[in-house]
Amino acid sequence: MKICCIGAGYVGGPTMAKIAQKCPDIHVNVVDINAEKIAQWQSDELPVYEPGLLECVKEARGRNLTFSTDIDEGIRRADIIFMSVNTPTKTYGVGAGKAADLKYVERCARMIAEVSTSDKIVVEKSTLPVRTAQSIKRILDATSEKGGVKFQVLSNPEFLAEGTAMQDLENPDRVLIGGETSPEGNKAVEVLASIYAHWVPREKIITTNIWSSELSKLTANAFLAQRISSINAMSALCEVTGADVDEVAHAIGRDSRLGSKFLKSSVGFGGSCFQKDILNLVYLCEHFGLPEVAHYWEQVVTMNAYQRDRFVKRILENLFNTVSDKKIAIWGFAFKKDTNDTRESAAIYVCKGLLEEQACLNIYDPKVTKEQIYRELGLPEDSDRIKICQNPYEAAEDAHAVAILTEWDEFKCDQMDYQKVLESMQNPQFLFDGRNIVDREKLKQMGFEVHSVGKSDFYAV
Ligand code: UDX
Ligand code: ADP
Repeated sequence: MKICCIGAGYVGGPTMAKIAQKCPDIHVNVVDINAEKIAQWQSDELPVYEPGLLECVKEARGRNLTFSTDIDEGIRRADIIFMSVNTPTKTYGVGAGKAADLKYVERCARMIAEVSTSDKIVVEKSTLPVRTAQSIKRILDATSEKGGVKFQVLSNPEFLAEGTAMQDLENPDRVLIGGETSPEGNKAVEVLASIYAHWVPREKIITTNIWSSELSKLTANAFLAQRISSINAMSALCEVTGADVDEVAHAIGRDSRLGSKFLKSSVGFGGSCFQKDILNLVYLCEHFGLPEVAHYWEQVVTMNAYQRDRFVKRILENLFNTVSDKKIAIWGFAFKKDTNDTRESAAIYVCKGLLEEQACLNIYDPKVTKEQIYRELGLPEDSDRIKICQNPYEAAEDAHAVAILTEWDEFKCDQMDYQKVLESMQNPQFLFDGRNIVDREKLKQMGFEVHSVGKSDFYAV
C-alpha cells in the first residue's frame, strides 16, 4: 500500500513519520510545494521541532518514508492521500476574520482530481469546517467523471498537541474516522482503520459519519480552549480577592467530573488551532441562524484577548505607568514549550502591546529563530526596538523587568541562576510570570518583585 500526504507541516510531518515508523510495509511519501521545507525534512535540521521527532524520522527515512516536491507523481502513485494543508482564518471577503480559508484545500482537491488515474481514498487531516468533505467530494467527482476514477473521502482529524506530538501519536486517546455511510464508505473506513490498528488498540478507533467527525474536532478544541478561558477569567477574580488561582485549580481539579488537566492559568492560549477553530465554529453557527450559540463561543476568544491585554496593563502599571525606553526581557516566544511554533502566540500580542508603549525588548526563546520573531512582530530586521538574545541572562541584563511568556523548563528556579539575573537587572527587579512556573517565595526572598497571574500581588500596584 502507498500513502501520499500533501502538506509537510506541524501535523503532516509528525503524523506521517509515526505511520511510517509503525507500518514498515506501507510506503509513505510526504509532498509539499515548499521546496525549502522538503529539503529540511530530508536533513537533520527538521522544520518542525518536536521532542522525539528526529529519531522517528531517521528510523523510517530511506526505508519507507520519503519527502518530495513532486506532488503530481506522489498523488498518482498513492492508494491513500492525506490532505494536510493549512486552513488559516480568511482575511478577505465573506467571513473574513472568522471563516476558514479553504483555498489551499480546494486547490489540493483539484490537483488530486486532475492527476489521478486510479481509485483513491482521500483523507481530510486538516481541521476543516463541517461539510467540507462534501465539497471535496464534489470537486473530485466532477473532475474525475471523465476518467471513471472513483474517490472515497474520509475525515480523520488529528488531535495531537504540539510539544507532545510524538507521545500523542504513539498513544492516542482515540483515533477518529468519519466516512460515508455506504458499503464503499465502510470499506474505505476499514482500510484507514487497519493502518492505525498496526499500533492503536481497536477499541480506541472510533468511526462515525463524516459530519460528526468534522464537528468533533471543532468541538474538542472549543471545549479545551473554553477551559483555559474559564480559569483565566477566574484568575482576574483571584487577583482582586486574594485567592490563588493555582490553589483554586487544584481544588476544583480534584472533582473527577472536572478533572485536573487544562486548568493552568496563563497569559493566554495560542497556537494555530484554538482561536481559528472557535472562530470557525462561530461562523458556522451564524451561518446556520444560531446567533446565541455563536455569541456563547465567541466569548472564549474575547476572554483570551482580555487576558493578554491585562498582562500588558499590569506590567505598565507596576513599572510606574511608563515603559517608554525601558528594557524588558521577554523569556519565551513560542506559544507553548517544546515547540518552535509561534502561531497566535500570546508573546506576539504582549510584545506588540509593550512596543506600542515604546518599550525596548530583549527577546530570548530557545527554539524560535530570529527571522521568525521579526516577522511575527512585523518589524524590519534592522529595527532597534527589539534585540534577539542568545540566552535568558543576556536578555535580562540591565532590564527593568523580566516577563516569562512561555513555560520552557529552563526558566524554572532549579534550572536558572536567578541570583545572577537579579544582580544584572535594574532596581527594583520586577519579574512577571505569565505561566506561573517560578518559585515565588524563593525569588521574593532573593529580592525580586514577583507578579504572577491569578495571585493577589499581581494586582496590587
Ligand atoms: C491543541 C489541542 O490540544 C490538540 O488536541 C489539537 O489537535 C490542536 O490544538 P496545541 O495548540 O498544539 O493543541 O497545544 P495545547 O497543549 O492544546 O495548548 C494550546 C495553548 O493553550 C498553548 O498556548 C498553551 O500554553 C495554552 N494552555 C494550555 C494554557 O494556557 N493552559 C492550559 O492549562 C493548557
Ligand atoms: P499544520 O499545522 O496544519 O500542519 P502548516 O502550515 O504547518 O499547517 O503546514 C501546511 C503545509 O501545507 C505547508 O508546508 C504548505 O506549504 C503546504 N501546502 C499548502 N498548500 C499546498 C498544496 N497545494 N500542495 C502541497 N503543499 C501545500
